[in-house]
Amino acid sequence: MPKVVETQSMLLQILILVFFFFSASVKNGNAGITSTFIRSEWPSNDIPLDHEVFAVPKGHNAPQQVHITQGDYDGKAVIISWVTPDEPGSSKVQYGVSKKNYDFTAEGAVRNYSFYNYTSGYIHQCLVDGLEYDTKYYYKIGSGDSYREFWFQTPPQINPDTPYKFGIIGDLGQTYNSLSTLEHYMQSGAQAVLFVGDLAYADRYMYNDVGIRWDTWGRFVERSAAYQPWTWSAGNHEIEYMPYLGEVIPFKSYLNRYPTPHLASKSSSPLWYAIRRASAHIIVLSSYSPFGNFSFPFILPYKFSSHSIVIWIHTTVGQGTTFYCSSILQQGLH
Ligand SMILES: *[C@@H]1O[C@H](CO)[C@@H](O)[C@H](O)[C@H]1NC(C)=O
Ligand SMILES: *[C@@H]1O[C@H](CO)[C@@H](O)[C@H](O)[C@H]1NC(C)=O
Ligand SMILES: *[C@@H]1O[C@H](CO)[C@@H](O)[C@H](O)[C@H]1NC(C)=O
Repeated sequence: MPKVVETQSMLLQILILVFFFFSASVKNGNAGITSTFIRSEWPSNDIPLDHEVFAVPKGHNAPQQVHITQGDYDGKAVIISWVTPDEPGSSKVQYGVSKKNYDFTAEGAVRNYSFYNYTSGYIHQCLVDGLEYDTKYYYKIGSGDSYREFWFQTPPQINPDTPYKFGIIGDLGQTYNSLSTLEHYMQSGAQAVLFVGDLAYADRYMYNDVGIRWDTWGRFVERSAAYQPWTWSAGNHEIEYMPYLGEVIPFKSYLNRYPTPHLASKSSSPLWYAIRRASAHIIVLSSYSPFGNFSFPFILPYKFSSHSIVIWIHTTVGQGTTFYCSSILQQGLH
């Protein structure tokens, strides 16, 4: 589901909007922006693997599943991630401020993982930092003839009065509804996504299909996620605790594929972190950390203010409740 909000100094309005959207219990949400879009198809089926929205880019070892997320606390860095299917290849990002003119290079790292009898492609993650605010950057990844080029825009300097347009998407999946949702979102003109959990719904599958559906989802969202940061938080569909497949490490696929800038906010867990972007202070919490023996990973070092957007996904299996906590602003964590 997409939602677009514009941040101004009164971020409390956003909290109200968020509640309005997800709980449908707040009346007279007055911050304005929304879409009349309502998804139509129900129940909805996953798009077949050979559909063009999942197309693999041409060329030997061509980068795919490209996505970016904010890479630091204040919005002057991005983490660029992509997958190469055939061999590790290069983890280098070339970038610059004018098209085809890549004056700078950053070097990332590569990893892979397995899930039951699935082996992932080579997952590259590269931090590009020291960027200027409010600047369009072009970037290039991959080598030989199989390189690919994208761009992104850095946010304006942090200031409580700077307008900025966030989209809120959650529960996306990879159905035909997901496709129309994503297309609607991309027409909204929003500048960054706050993703509130439940990405690929790959846990509907078994065996190697779980990994395969993470890959299709990565290719599916690339049309947006390669060009603007998606701020990730995990939902219950990311847990993938599947002892019947011998898979008992919670969030294995998610954590291997969707890095977050948690160290920049002094968090010990990628599931918990905070960023600031333009006029927003975004705090991502995870309801599922105790799952599978996770302990409470850190004491929140942040001071909550009226400029905070707290994203706290609270989803119980079979119930699908999304809960945004605003009282945290006044009462502290509970
Ligand atoms: C990662 O890739 C290497 C090199 O191709 C391979 O030997 C290894 O088995 C892979 N690791 C996993 C966890 O699949
Ligand atoms: C993975 O295991 C499933 C179930 O045993 C099997 O149907 C499938 O062909 C296997 N796939 C691979 C790539 O080994
Ligand atoms: C959780 O901890 C208990 C006790 O240390 C251990 O027996 C169990 O295997 C752990 N479970 C998981 C999923 O790690």
